[in-house]
Amino acid sequence: MEIAKNSHELRQCLAGLSGDGTVAFVPTMGNLHEGHLSLVRRGFAMAKHVIVSIFVNPLQFSPTEDLEAYPRTLKQDLEQLAGEGVALVFTPSVEDLYPSGLQAHTKVTVPGLTDVLCGRQRAGHFDGVTTVVCKLLNLVSADIALFGEKDLQQLLVIRKMVADLGIPVQIEAVPTQRNANGLALSSRNGYLTPEALDLAPALYRNLMAVGDAVRDGARDYAGLCSGLMQRLNALGFVSEYCEARRCSDLLPAQEDDTDIAIFCAASLEGTRLIDNIVIPHY
Ligand code: PAJ
Repeated sequence: MEIAKNSHELRQCLAGLSGDGTVAFVPTMGNLHEGHLSLVRRGFAMAKHVIVSIFVNPLQFSPTEDLEAYPRTLKQDLEQLAGEGVALVFTPSVEDLYPSGLQAHTKVTVPGLTDVLCGRQRAGHFDGVTTVVCKLLNLVSADIALFGEKDLQQLLVIRKMVADLGIPVQIEAVPTQRNANGLALSSRNGYLTPEALDLAPALYRNLMAVGDAVRDGARDYAGLCSGLMQRLNALGFVSEYCEARRCSDLLPAQEDDTDIAIFCAASLEGTRLIDNIVIPHY
């Protein structure tokens, strides 16, 4: 497995792969778990080579967020990726990706989809995501790039960016990987105490209950979602939002909409957890 520590080394490694079959790309911020590895495995089902990037992107963290504390476990990450048969790992520095500094760097903004849900409280977050993903897609120029449905809003924003800017890559969505209790795997779960880890699966359980109610014909999305937040708050969560929205444009779900998702964000012990369920064509 080759490791490219900057864009120059990446170009050299890519030249070695060029013309040798399709390439899939999995961008990550490291601290890899089975969720990330499911993207890698799906990549291998679709392409001959899989390239992974590990970069904790400062541009998508707000000043009050956990940039410094974000878990960095490069050695273990590389071992896991070597075990999966990954061809190349790109581990650039902040200076390499943002040579003129964070403020002076060109930004990519996707309007509309980014000022709701996670974009409402986290100003600039999605600009940070789209700017780095656009740059990584350009540098790696893979045939396929894989993203998790765990971050469904992020996936939809990236799909729109790729379509709007004509970036020649196929975006592939991979289902959310969960532990046995239903808790969506996330690097931030590592911040939770054992007590909070016991509580955390209630987020998904309650989302599933809303999904069941919708499948049974309930359409009072506002009532269902506020009921979910009240139940979570009673358990010790601090709910940020729970909303039913259309997957196509993230507008609030109307009674006769199909293909909707319920999105939820809530904190436990100050750790922000997000999850969602898609309720397709009922
Ligand atoms: P990160 O949180 O490391 O996630 C990398 C990829 O793994 C994302 O596409 C995310 O949706 C996916 N993923 C995380 N947990 C998952 C799970 N439980 N099941 C399935 N997929 C999961 O998302 C980012 O990094 C960054 O925003 C990034 C896109 C790399 C840009 O900096």
